[in-house]
Amino acid sequence: MRLFKKVLAVSVASMCALSLAACGGGSKTAETTAAASSESKDESKAAESVSEAVAATGKDVKDIKVGISIYKFDDNFMTLYRNELVRYLTEDIGIPKENVMVQDGKNDQAEQTNQINNFIATKVDVMILNLVQSSSAPTVTDLAKEAGIPVVYINREPDEAEESRWAADGISATYVGADARQSGTFQGEEIAELENKGDINGDGTVKYIMIQGDPENIDAQYRTEYSVKALTEKSGLKAEQLLIQRGDWDQAKGQQIAQDALTQYGNDIEVIFCNNDAMALGALQAINAAGRKVGEDIYIVGVDALAEAVQNVSEGKMTGTVFNDFISQAQAAAKAAVSFAGGEKVDTKIPVDYVKVTKDNAAEILELSLIHISEPTRPY
Ligand code: GAL
Repeated sequence: MRLFKKVLAVSVASMCALSLAACGGGSKTAETTAAASSESKDESKAAESVSEAVAATGKDVKDIKVGISIYKFDDNFMTLYRNELVRYLTEDIGIPKENVMVQDGKNDQAEQTNQINNFIATKVDVMILNLVQSSSAPTVTDLAKEAGIPVVYINREPDEAEESRWAADGISATYVGADARQSGTFQGEEIAELENKGDINGDGTVKYIMIQGDPENIDAQYRTEYSVKALTEKSGLKAEQLLIQRGDWDQAKGQQIAQDALTQYGNDIEVIFCNNDAMALGALQAINAAGRKVGEDIYIVGVDALAEAVQNVSEGKMTGTVFNDFISQAQAAAKAAVSFAGGEKVDTKIPVDYVKVTKDNAAEILELSLIHISEPTRPY
């Protein structure tokens, strides 16, 4: 049992190396990238130790059953996350594929709750849940608690009251994820650090539009708030919101919103903030179609560091993005799940940092994420 805890600590340390500057915070990435080549070796060693540790609890990894539900499969970022999660659980930790059940929540909480009830009926050892509505966490946690099944929540963070309840009542639940305030702050800083601080016409006010994700999601709320907060605080300029509209993390919606806004507000728009890269890529299509030029007469930032977005950043076609480290998040979630399955206690929160992505480090980030996403597509 003790071995188990030690392994988790080691794993988190190696995760920090993997996520570049992640655990040190900030955007200094260069020095940590050097570790990249030895990282995968460290990671598989860490996974091996996880397996050994499970064995030490009298449980064989081959017997662990995991139920995973993703809020919807049709989401660019969560697809990267899901593939890495399943890959790590099966290939690195060694859980048989047939014991890792992955369901598509189809953006429908009722459907997802059914899936959770099925996981409970099939007596999985642990569930990894990306809730459709994070407000369902108390109900879902109670269902799982009653069945004696631990839960690892990912991506959509339950509220603080719920997380405190796990700690206070000794409930086997945890949240693995990043603090969305940090990603918003990085977006605002990326604009404030430009020579003109985003104030293209020099009138002392940065005029922007905000393309939001699903507003129920704390990531959307915090990114919206903290991007503008960081911009005004760091630049000393004023900011004026011309438009805020929900694009639900979706590229086509992002494109439509930006297209309409560019028609309505024209050159008044100096910055387009997007809560994620999928919407930013859509908005970028609209910017190009409108004949505007990023870096000259408009700026645009996203979050996630999707390969296409990072490529655009490295070529100066997008101002910046923020690496939402799906690799570290997926691996930390998998390790937490295996710890729970081995009967260990797990912290109620396992944080993973974001990394700022600008032209300066875009190539490094691209290389890191391509290592994972260029592998042959698996039928997960
Ligand atoms: C965010 C991510 C979005 C979307 C969302 C789903 O963290 O930036 O692209 O995947 O999660 O909850």
